[in-house]
Amino acid sequence: MENHQYHIFSPYRVCPLGAHVDHQHGLVTGFAFDKGVDLWFTPTEDGSVHLKSLTFEGEISFDVTKPSQVKEGNWGDYARGAKYALKKRFELTRGIEGVIKGSLPVGGLSSSAAVLTAYVMALAKANNITLSKMEVIKTASQAEREYIGLTNGILDQACIVLGEKDSLLFLDTDTEQYRIIKKNPRMPEFEIAIIFSGLTRSLVSSDYNLRVAECKTAAWNMMAYTGMPLKSFDKTYLRDIPKETYDLTKEKMPPRFARRAEHFYSEYKRVRKGVTAWETGNLNLFGQLSFESCQSSIKNYECGSEELIAIYNIMKQCDGIYGGRFSGAGFKGACIALVDPAKKEQIREQITSEYLRMFPEYTESFEIHFCKTDDGARFV
Ligand code: GLA
Repeated sequence: MENHQYHIFSPYRVCPLGAHVDHQHGLVTGFAFDKGVDLWFTPTEDGSVHLKSLTFEGEISFDVTKPSQVKEGNWGDYARGAKYALKKRFELTRGIEGVIKGSLPVGGLSSSAAVLTAYVMALAKANNITLSKMEVIKTASQAEREYIGLTNGILDQACIVLGEKDSLLFLDTDTEQYRIIKKNPRMPEFEIAIIFSGLTRSLVSSDYNLRVAECKTAAWNMMAYTGMPLKSFDKTYLRDIPKETYDLTKEKMPPRFARRAEHFYSEYKRVRKGVTAWETGNLNLFGQLSFESCQSSIKNYECGSEELIAIYNIMKQCDGIYGGRFSGAGFKGACIALVDPAKKEQIREQITSEYLRMFPEYTESFEIHFCKTDDGARFV
């Protein structure tokens, strides 16, 4: 898109370990990888925003100098969301005119956080606003929570902004301290497989916010049983409750809530072990923990779909896969795996043939891609 002044690449992300815990201030890990969203744009002097998408139909127009508008339920909401979050702290006078394009199907790779990040960076550039990396993360996250309406944590935005090639992001979403841990030279090479189930719509997709509320209810139960003062629901996080309190109270709680807490505390342990495995170059153990994380998502967090669970079971039997799990919110979309690059083609064949034997209806929409870790969102 040579006729535009600027080009931002905002990568997608995967989270091998530390899933469904960021909204409870848990420990997470992740990679940015070499597929994502491209935004080409030129600032406008009059505050107008005009956007075209090479992925979705229609064009979007609005004015950043006017008050925030209500959501319209189309792809333009992400640009309007970026305006909403930036306007909370800054005066915006310039808009952008541009084109956006995604490089992989939507579902499980946090394309929503990738586009929000790109729009935040673009509108900030147009208005001469300098944002630190953490401010970009927070602004994009605020847009997603308050404007788009998902009660999620900062995992996606953090991987997208802080990710570095050949490195694992390890982030404590409570303190917001993080480390970028370079791949140990002793660790074998790996690539990231993205396996799209073909299922793009699911009736259970809205259970994301419900699970967040269930986690908070588990926390409230534990606090009430042990006489801790309750905080308002939105300020209640599992991270604030010691594991010992969970051990004392888990039998008393309705099992549904105890399972959500079990996922949280067990994932905390897996992330700690996984970070050590990564640091010591033990990709087999790191992968194994990712498989275990997925098992806990199925059993304790109760997300997934028949399709994603089938892919997970096939992945576990595949030679050349170190480990993997559902991606994203885990209700539809994709599984991810860390794979031996020498075995990519046999992995592709085995997963495709076994999965499509079970779900022939996805013959047209099922896809596997192999990707490499990459740097975070940037001007190209
Ligand atoms: C989605 C959310 C994230 C995180 C993951 C699950 O991608 O946007 O904040 O909760 O699900 O780990």
